[in-house]
Amino acid sequence: MATDFLPINGTDYVEFYVGNAKQASLYYQHCFGFELVAYAGPETGVRDRASYVVQQNKIRFVLTTSLQPDSEINNHVKKHGDGVKVLALWVDDAKKSFHETVSRGAEIASEPKVLKDEHGEVVVSSIKTYGDTIHTFVERKNYKGVFLPGFQPVKNKLKVTPIGLKYVDHCVGNVELGQMNKWVKFYEDVMGFKLLITFDDNDISTEYSALMSKVVSNGNGYIKFPINEPAKGKKKSQIEEYLDFYHGAGVQHIAIATDDIIHTVSELKNRGVEFLRVPDVYYDDVQQRVGHINEDWKELQKLNILIDRDEEGYLLQIFSKPVQDRPTLFFEIIERNGAKSFGKGNFKALFEAIELEQELRGNL
Ligand code: FE2
Repeated sequence: MATDFLPINGTDYVEFYVGNAKQASLYYQHCFGFELVAYAGPETGVRDRASYVVQQNKIRFVLTTSLQPDSEINNHVKKHGDGVKVLALWVDDAKKSFHETVSRGAEIASEPKVLKDEHGEVVVSSIKTYGDTIHTFVERKNYKGVFLPGFQPVKNKLKVTPIGLKYVDHCVGNVELGQMNKWVKFYEDVMGFKLLITFDDNDISTEYSALMSKVVSNGNGYIKFPINEPAKGKKKSQIEEYLDFYHGAGVQHIAIATDDIIHTVSELKNRGVEFLRVPDVYYDDVQQRVGHINEDWKELQKLNILIDRDEEGYLLQIFSKPVQDRPTLFFEIIERNGAKSFGKGNFKALFEAIELEQELRGNL
């Protein structure tokens, strides 16, 4: 087997460009149980932006806002609304990652640079992916600080209770009609990823809207990126709705893994996170379809959690409503019990639930 030219240790962080990072960080602390761990802004010598770093187990989100009217951050927010700018990948060598991918055709977002402070040094470099989204390679083996040089640790004033969110399971991108294969090829050729699964129209069309999806994954399988494009249906595809409101390609959802979805989702609901609701008829035949599971069916139905099985096991999943006013980014909470797939058996029920919401928004 050829050696992996882009070894990745995992997701390093996800950075969101938002209109108000102070308030957004509180949403992730209060509703999702993240702990505020680091901050950069005027108080730490950064003049043009404020960034809040929140963390729970292996998941790190950075919420960044601009302090100036004309900035790359504000242009992003003006066009896309609050959304994901950076999917950062944790690597052992950020210079090599940059050169390997750029030599294979990646567009440069920023050249490798060494960031230093009293805790050591971090090397970062960035390449462009779909839309205005970028991948930043982060090499932190010589760093002992809380996040990156320039950030200061925060003694959390808000007492948060974590809710069992463990790591980023997968990050999904929506791209324009006809662009899915181009981006799959990008991940294959430029980043050395492998095509894992293809979902076509037959798998996932409902009466109205449809989409096509392909999942790519890196060598060790820690990074999984499904890429969706709209397919022609009777009415507007959920992917088209996203593209219309995001004004282009971007991150559609981030799936976060938990070991106890019943606990995690109960907490999220108590704290005000809203989820898509599938009709109760979904539960009429699900037991027959899925077979024995360890969880209590009644509890799953009460929380509206979806269940699917593949050759290797089963999975439990649920999808939030969009987490900003535009119908763009949302979250998935997933508990895997052996299953490595993505819940294909739930697509129909799920997409019907999404279309109900689209209809309420007048976008179907
Ligand atoms: Fe997903």
